[in-house]
Formats: sequence, structure tokens, C-alpha cells
Amino acid sequence: MAKEIISVTVRAQKADPIATKSDLLAVGVFSDVKKDKLCEAIDKKLGGAIEKVRKLGDFKAKTDTSVLLYSDGKIGAQRILLVGLGERKKATSDTVRNAATLAASKAVGLKAKRAVLALHSGFGRKPDAAGLGRAIAEGVHFGSYRYDEFVTKSEDGRLKGLVAVVADASAAKVGQLSKGVRTGSIIGRAQSFARTIANRPGNVMNPAELGAVAKKVAKETAGLSCTVFDEKQLKQKKMGGILAVGSGSVNKPRLIVLKYTPAGKSQKKAATIGLVGKAVTFDSGGISIKPAAGMQDMKLDMSGGAAVLGVLKAAAELKLGLNVYGIIPAAENLPSGTSYRPGDIVTTYSGKTVEVQNTDAEGRMILCDALHYAVEQKCDVIADIATLTGACIVALGKHKAGIMGNDEGVIKQLQAAAEASGEKVWHMPSGEEYLEEMKSKIADLKNIGSRWGGACTAAAFLGQFVGDVKWAHVDMAPREAMFEGDKKPGAVGSMGFGVRLLTTYLMNIGK
Ligand code: BES
Ligand code: MN
Ligand code: ZN
Repeated sequence: MAKEIISVTVRAQKADPIATKSDLLAVGVFSDVKKDKLCEAIDKKLGGAIEKVRKLGDFKAKTDTSVLLYSDGKIGAQRILLVGLGERKKATSDTVRNAATLAASKAVGLKAKRAVLALHSGFGRKPDAAGLGRAIAEGVHFGSYRYDEFVTKSEDGRLKGLVAVVADASAAKVGQLSKGVRTGSIIGRAQSFARTIANRPGNVMNPAELGAVAKKVAKETAGLSCTVFDEKQLKQKKMGGILAVGSGSVNKPRLIVLKYTPAGKSQKKAATIGLVGKAVTFDSGGISIKPAAGMQDMKLDMSGGAAVLGVLKAAAELKLGLNVYGIIPAAENLPSGTSYRPGDIVTTYSGKTVEVQNTDAEGRMILCDALHYAVEQKCDVIADIATLTGACIVALGKHKAGIMGNDEGVIKQLQAAAEASGEKVWHMPSGEEYLEEMKSKIADLKNIGSRWGGACTAAAFLGQFVGDVKWAHVDMAPREAMFEGDKKPGAVGSMGFGVRLLTTYLMNIGK
């Protein structure tokens, strides 16, 4: 299991935020709410410090802003972090999640061991207390995450643990908050786990290693099983796409298959969902090699696979009433004397042939075999997630992932999950016209289209391997961490995108 970089515990507790002892008390403040009970009560103890900082205009309570005050022993906490929630009527679960992210990130920066959170109290009934608790726990995990596995220098002065207490005076509310905190902690942990897996560099995380990690997760998690097909088995199965992409590296490819089966009789009636995640442990482009600048970021080209692994872990821990496959084709794309080449014609697992025109369009070459495998497992719905195209980044910028597919219903469900989880998607076109560009004169398909609409043509290619199964494809290239940089609190390297989105999707359809 990935080393827990900072061990994070979140719990809800019946407590008075003002009296509770802690290193940091985080208080949510709406920009347009002038009279807030909690703020006023704290301010009274502090002798007007909050009013002063607001009057000076140093803190306008906009989202993604905060200000730190020192309590001087006047309340239980050593420090008070005012966290902006923006306008009251615009606030959603995403707002409170982001506030918790910011608070947790600051807490880690301040080396706080114990933080009390009072971010939720000003919200009305929507989201409900359980929803707020969930979003806060997800945010705390997200914001406190640091990837420091390989930092030996005194851990960079960071502490090993953070305890975050969601404080509320009402016992009934604490019950609901706790319920949400439990769910959110499972999802948050799974997301941090996915981030660590994705962040591990290419010399550490290769296909075999990813397979070993998946096996370990399955062993440790009730309801999960895992099979890893090695190169020999891939050859027997004739998974020509995965084999072609993996052929240039001494780190041989794998197909990792996780299965979550719910306990009891319900499994027979329950739908079967296939989640497919691209795991190119390093994408150099292969013979069609990429430019040197930024190539190091391509260690994150297994982010889709890492997300699927995280989702399967969360689905099992949440004991969802669905059968879920996690299908992760893993390969390293390197140039060498044994690499696949431009011009090669590859026979994929489905039997369809593909003319390779660019070895850097390798994601679709491994996904096509995995998608066909998902069809064979009789999945009712298939969703894949992949850092597939630079074109998707050009189209959407860095804030939303692209979503395409063959079924409006599935796309709508994923859009709803994106809204709720704060992992945003945008529906893009694909289908017949785009497929035209992917047809080869000498094989069934070719692996690149024209200069235009690269995300759409890539999706059209994938669509050829799902038969008539309902399917959606998430191109998460725009949400790769490298484009977020350090702007988001705690965001160094992988953002773990997809874990919240797909877990929320499963929770919604499993209801
Ligand atoms: N992994 C890349 C896509 C990518 C690029 C993700 C930048 C995140 C950031 C993918 O394998 C790739 O190289 N795609 C090519 C496809 C092209 C050759 C048709 C691309 O987008 O340039
Ligand atoms: Mn590539
Ligand atoms: Zn790639």
C-alpha cells in the first residue's frame, strides 16, 4: 500500500468550536452574510479582530481566500483561519469541499496536529448535513495531501498526522455529519491513494509494479479480487494492442482486472459496470517520440488507471450494491529496437486491425483491448477514463475533462456526478463523422485522424470496440495535475481526478 504521506483522520463531534482546544479553528464566512452567529461569538472573545480585518478589506470572504488570526489564548484554538465561502446563494457542496481543502492545506503548512472545522454551520438545508460532512472529509483529504515519499530531508519539516474535527453543537446534526464524514473519508483516502500511485515516477511504477499494487489492494479489501495477465497470457489471448505498445520496453505490459462483488444475493440482480482506465506508466511517445520539454510529466499518463484502482477500493469499502470491474491496461511506451513502429498493422483483441500512423497515439491502442475485454465480461455499462489527447486540453482548457460516448443517459448520469463531486466534465461530440477520419485504406482503422478535433476522433476510435454496450469515455488530459501547478492548495503532481467523479456515479446508480 502506498505510504500514507500524512495520515489524516476526520471525524464529526458534538463540541463547541470556540471552547475546543486545537492548533487551528477554521471558520467558514460568506461574503454577503453580515451577521453570522458563530463569527460574532468568536469576535466578541477576540475583541473585534474579525470585524477589523473585514473592515480593513483584508478579507472579503471570497472563495479560495482565507486570513489567519491569532487567538492569544482568548478561545480554545491557538489560531483562527477565516475561510471565504463567497456568496451565500451560490454556495454548493463544492464550496464547502474547497473551503475544507484550503483549511487542511493551511493546517499542514502550519504543522497543526489538530484542527477544528466550523465550515458548515452557515449552510441551510442544502446540501444536507450528511452531504456537508462528506464534502468536508473529501476536502480535508485532498488539501492535506502531499507527495513526499522520496523526500528524505527531515520530511521537509512536515508532521505525520492531522486530525480534523468537524464540530457542531447539535447531537442530531453530528449524527448526520458523521455519516457523511465516513463516506467522504473513504472517498478521500481512495483519492489520495490514486494520487500517490500516479505520482510515483516511471522508474518505480511500471506495469508489473502496478499489477502488484492492485493485487495488494484486492487482498486487503473485502469484496475485491484481482487477476493480472502477464505478457505470456496477453500473447495467448492475442491482445495485440497492449502488446504492441508495451513491446519497446523491458518493463513488459500487463492487463490488470479488479472485480468488486457485493455480498449477499443482491449481486445477481445488480447491474455490472465496467470501468476502464489507461495506465501508460511512462509515455515517451515511442518511435514517434515527444519533444523533451515537459516529457517528465508523462509519468502521470497512468492517471486513468490509478483513478480506476482508487474507485474500486472505494466501491468495496462503501459496500455498493453493484458489480464493478476495474480493467486497467498497463504498458510503458518507449522507443527501442523492439518497439512497434509507424506503419505497423496491429491485430487487436477484438480482431479488428489498426494501422499505426503514430506510436504516440498509444492510449487508444491499449484501451481498445481493454474495452473489448469489458464487453466480454457482459458489462451493462462501460466507462473509460484516460489521459488521452493533448487536443482535449486545447479544446477545453484545464478546468474540465471531456466526455463523449454512445448513450445520452450514461452521459447525463456522469454529468450529474461531476456536478456533485466537483470533478467537472464537458460533453463533446463524437460518432460517425469523426469515425470517417479514423478509417484506414489498408486496415480496419488507423490510430490517428487529421489535425482537427483530436479528442473527438480518438473517442470515435474507442467507440468501435464497445459494440452496442452503453459507453462513455472521459478524456481527463485537461485535468492532469501538471497544468494545475501549485495553484490549488495541496496540488503537486496528480490531482487524483476521476476518483470522486466515478465513485459518485456508482453511488448514484447503485441507489
Ligand atoms: N498521453 C498523451 C496525451 C496527453 C498529452 C495527456 C498531454 C496529457 C498531456 C497521449 O498518449 C498522446 O500522446 N496523444 C497524442 C495523440 C496524437 C499523436 C494523435 C497527442 O495528444 O498529441
Ligand atoms: Mn502518447
Ligand atoms: Zn499517452
